[in-house]
Amino acid sequence: MELTIKGHSGCDIQVAREGKEIVVVKSTCDLKYAPRLINQARKQQKAGEFEYQHIRVPVIFDVNQNDKGAFIKMEYVYSKNFVEYFEHAGFEQIKYLIRALEYFLEKEISASETSIVQSSILTEKFADVKKKTLSNKALEGDQEVVDLIEYSERLFDKIRDMEMPVGRCHGDLTFSNILFNGNNYYLIDFLDSFIESPMLDIVKLRQDTAYRWSQLMYTKAFDDIRLRIVFEKIDKEIDEYFRTKYDWYLKYYKPLQLMNFLRIIQYAHDPKVIKFLKQVISSLL
Ligand SMILES: Nc1ncnc2c1ncn2[C@@H]1O[C@H](COP(=O)(O)OP(=O)(O)O)[C@@H](O)[C@H]1O
Ligand SMILES: [Mg+2]
Repeated sequence: MELTIKGHSGCDIQVAREGKEIVVVKSTCDLKYAPRLINQARKQQKAGEFEYQHIRVPVIFDVNQNDKGAFIKMEYVYSKNFVEYFEHAGFEQIKYLIRALEYFLEKEISASETSIVQSSILTEKFADVKKKTLSNKALEGDQEVVDLIEYSERLFDKIRDMEMPVGRCHGDLTFSNILFNGNNYYLIDFLDSFIESPMLDIVKLRQDTAYRWSQLMYTKAFDDIRLRIVFEKIDKEIDEYFRTKYDWYLKYYKPLQLMNFLRIIQYAHDPKVIKFLKQVISSLL
């Protein structure tokens, strides 16, 4: 058995049988991307050392880099994707998922240290995003984008040093990177984040629940109303939970979500995606 799946990153993903095991081999021939894939495996291995109740990570069997690229080999998880899962899940199961996500994020928070994130980290990141956005050919001549960048710049210019937990983070915690296996949820596709904070995981999660990004990227048919109801519920609960508990969440969610979407628009080229991103960014401003 050999099956190829295409992800968002351009990596090649193969499902193969190895003796009694079914494994997933994620590989890249892009030498610039290779270190990122290796880091991803290391991060996933590290996360596998912690106990998160219903949140799990596939076991990594092999990590390999050579002059042609890199590959990682991991446990195959027999699972559903978020759409297949949400279309059939009852409200009890959704509540269960919400509790599991809160527990996971709480664990990340307690494993992190409250630290000062210098405002320059954001302003430098913004300068880079601005440069890339304004030189993105697909956005050329788009006055709306120029305006959004200008408003954003005013906001980031005013930002002060931020106090928040830093230390542990998945780095790309969207629903497209969660595999649903009954009441266990497997996290894949770990990524280094520009601020290694659980705060950034909440931002990524809400990129899906508040703005339904992964749904926009989903190419097959789905029950739009049902997904909308599920996402609204998850979003409301996650937002309320962290809002009432953590000051840093309340203070920094907006600018960090804004930065998150700016980091997506800088490379966007699909007109449908660009239109969506402009609306979201504008709503955040
Ligand atoms: N360990 C795994 N078990 C089962 N399916 C997997 C596994 N890892 C990846 N996949 C499948 O491959 C898809 C893309 O994987 P991902 O690591 O998110 O790639 P990308 O970096 O391209 O987003 C997943 O959505 C899932 O369908
Ligand atoms: Mg992915």
